[in-house]
Amino acid sequence: MKSSRVSARVRALKPSETLALGARARELRAQGHSVISFAAGEPDFDTPEDVREAGVQAIRAGHTRYTAVGGIPELRAAIAESLKRENGLQYAPSQVVVSNGAKHSIWNAFLTLVEPGDEVLCPVPYWVTFPELVRLVGGEPVFVHPKRGGVKIGPEELERAITKRSKLLVLNSPNNPSGAVYTKEELEKLGEVIRKHDLYVLSDEIYEQLVFGNARHVSIASLHPEIQERTILIGGVSKTWAMTGWRIGFAAAPADLAEGMERLQGQSTSNPASVSQFAALRAFTGPRDSVKSMRACFAQRRELIVRRLCAMPGIRLVPPEGAFYAFPDVSERIRAARNGVTDSASLSDFLIDEARIVCVPGSAFGMEGHLRLSYAIGDKDIEEGLNRLEAALDRM
Ligand SMILES: Cc1ncc(COP(=O)(O)O)c(C=O)c1O
Repeated sequence: MKSSRVSARVRALKPSETLALGARARELRAQGHSVISFAAGEPDFDTPEDVREAGVQAIRAGHTRYTAVGGIPELRAAIAESLKRENGLQYAPSQVVVSNGAKHSIWNAFLTLVEPGDEVLCPVPYWVTFPELVRLVGGEPVFVHPKRGGVKIGPEELERAITKRSKLLVLNSPNNPSGAVYTKEELEKLGEVIRKHDLYVLSDEIYEQLVFGNARHVSIASLHPEIQERTILIGGVSKTWAMTGWRIGFAAAPADLAEGMERLQGQSTSNPASVSQFAALRAFTGPRDSVKSMRACFAQRRELIVRRLCAMPGIRLVPPEGAFYAFPDVSERIRAARNGVTDSASLSDFLIDEARIVCVPGSAFGMEGHLRLSYAIGDKDIEEGLNRLEAALDRM
């Protein structure tokens, strides 16, 4: 037998560090430890009652068979309508392809657009999945670093990273892990570079409803028809409606790319779960009260976590404006450590072992010296977790 029967392609795939840390937290809890996990990548709320009820009704009404591959027409139309209302974007329902979560939509998009050897520009810090999926489809991730101390890239950084092989820029605003939200002006400047160099954009806007304070979400596709013509926009229900388990996401794209993604889906997974589609239809068409109250709750927690982190010595934080993550720079504390902590991964291990708090190391997102703390957990846990963090950092 060959040394490994797992394909080289799959062997090269890194396991998701965020999922692994979540599993470690569950394991420690099962052993009776009081663990506070800042590793959550999903809202701690229940799916709104009316949306859950729509799922139950779909089962009762017998919506339990295959549907159209790209989703039921009503859902595709509702998503197109929502993109028009929220972002001023015109898409025909046929340009919206519904998949098994936004992650699946991203996979479809990469496989449809990226040729082997193409370079895909990934701004740092990046969501863990982007570079892994780029490699899996034979592309080459090229990391674009922001200016020192920043978490967003500008046109100069982008321009410098572009080569003849550059095909696609991956934008993610609001951002996981930094919570950064690109302004219209910032996107316009990036848009100029994109047009000049004939690039495509994968714009992951899954956190579009979770923006706080004065920040506003702007879709890069809405800036100019020529940019929309080059953009695959990714969205979904997982974060906004606390529906991570239902597995519904979508891609909205120019007609030829949408057709390609649908064809690919037709030969791989077929339609996303029928029942989940009816629940998502209710999410997009029903009242948004619960979305508003979840957002208000995240806004309060964001204030709490920002206030506490900013008060800790040796920690720098670009205050997050969206999503539900804070991404403090703790490099000064790491440099001062006398207990063997040398980087974000060893700091994360130390915090789990010594303080029973789980934070994701910045290295998982391509940015050393940082930690990602999700505030999709209760206020009391945030307070207690930050008390433990502060005390543990003092013990380093
Ligand atoms: C930036 C980003 N895109 C996509 C996803 C995946 O969403 P879904 O659960 O709908 O696949 C996540 C989840 O963490 C995310 O943070």
